[in-house]
Amino acid sequence: MEQRVYCSTILLILYISISLVEGELSSISENSSSGKLSVGHRAAVKCAEYSKLAKTENNECNSNILDPSNYKNRKWNYTAKVGEFPHMVILSEKEDGYRCAGTLVSERFVLSVAQCAKLFMDNATVWARIGVVERYQPNKPQAVAIKIRRSFIHPNFTADPLANDVSLLELERECQFDDLKRPACLNTETDVSNSSLFVSGYGIKHTLIERASPVLLKTRIELKNKINSTTLEEIPDGPMFLAAGSVQGMKAPCVGDAGAPLAMAANCNHKVVGLASSGRIGSEVLCARYPSDYARVSNYIEWIENIVWPNPTN
Ligand SMILES: *[C@@H]1O[C@H](CO)[C@@H](O)[C@H](O)[C@H]1NC(C)=O
Ligand SMILES: *[C@@H]1O[C@H](CO)[C@@H](O)[C@H](O)[C@H]1NC(C)=O
Ligand SMILES: *[C@@H]1O[C@H](CO)[C@@H](O)[C@H](O)[C@H]1NC(C)=O
Ligand SMILES: *[C@@H]1O[C@H](CO)[C@@H](O)[C@H](O)[C@H]1NC(C)=O
Ligand SMILES: *[C@@H]1O[C@H](CO)[C@@H](O)[C@H](O)[C@H]1NC(C)=O
Ligand SMILES: *[C@@H]1O[C@H](CO)[C@@H](O)[C@H](O)[C@H]1NC(C)=O
Repeated sequence: MEQRVYCSTILLILYISISLVEGELSSISENSSSGKLSVGHRAAVKCAEYSKLAKTENNECNSNILDPSNYKNRKWNYTAKVGEFPHMVILSEKEDGYRCAGTLVSERFVLSVAQCAKLFMDNATVWARIGVVERYQPNKPQAVAIKIRRSFIHPNFTADPLANDVSLLELERECQFDDLKRPACLNTETDVSNSSLFVSGYGIKHTLIERASPVLLKTRIELKNKINSTTLEEIPDGPMFLAAGSVQGMKAPCVGDAGAPLAMAANCNHKVVGLASSGRIGSEVLCARYPSDYARVSNYIEWIENIVWPNPTN
């Protein structure tokens, strides 16, 4: 039942954010006075490591990395290029299916919203499909489907009111990185820049009646005020969520996009700032009309680090 409700009421959970780390190393601070690593330290070390994977032998950015300057022309091409979002993960009970979305954040972990992890029955076999661009063609050479071993739902997650909508899904085996499969960085800053934010997903559309896309799509998104779904009043978005909506006339994440990463490009990698969590509810059929809420990744760094990189020396 719950699954139906989520599917039919447009609880969207699909934001992906990709940002690159500027001056990545300077942001790494070790807190020796307390003997503990400061929150964000492990994420920053890993981000520097992952960003190197995104560079060519000449130390240049892989051409598939989002370059905002490529998107200035008025006619937007929504189709994602092969390898453009190598952190994008499809989560599904079927090896060739699609239920919701996640972001690869390490060899072993996929970050998503709690609502996505909750879509699956307790003992269901769930697959993380990584390196996929055309969702009906799972057997492309570099695409893999890895079983989820277990999921971690944020201990303070609640569905109503929606709060702490974050989950981590642990892969049964390590994902081997290559140009199509590579983790994104985590945004550790509370303040998010309004420029060059992108979401990737298969459900991106103008209206509900459009079919989900067989190929991965991308769209631009900008920060907006959060909307109270009952009163339609603008309200502050608070620490747990980031409200963002479509750039005028463009498509936005919709049904099926739960967990999709809202990301920005920086220093050759993508940095995830939000995870698509919920959209405008009720009879709304225009996915792109109102802003949606994205779980604010920076609010959950400590929880994520303790699960994904439990050993501080790594
Ligand atoms: C280190 O930890 C102490 C105590 O928790 C705190 O007061 C201090 O601001 C921290 N320093 C840095 C650089 O994070
Ligand atoms: C849109 O982008 C895709 C992926 O790069 C490409 O295959 C396609 O030809 C592009 N379409 C147009 C109209 O430029
Ligand atoms: C899941 O599997 C465990 C162990 O096999 C079993 O005890 C439990 O009842 C199962 N739960 C559901 C919801 O099927
Ligand atoms: C959950 O909420 C409690 C009470 O506010 C808080 O003490 C705890 O740190 C929270 N857990 C996490 C993982 O943030
Ligand atoms: C982001 O940019 C859009 C378009 O320029 C603007 O309407 C919106 O107010 C901006 N949001 C923030 C938080 O600056
Ligand atoms: C939205 O508005 C309703 C009616 O005023 C109010 O009860 C509710 O708390 C509001 N929700 C949020 C998240 O502010």
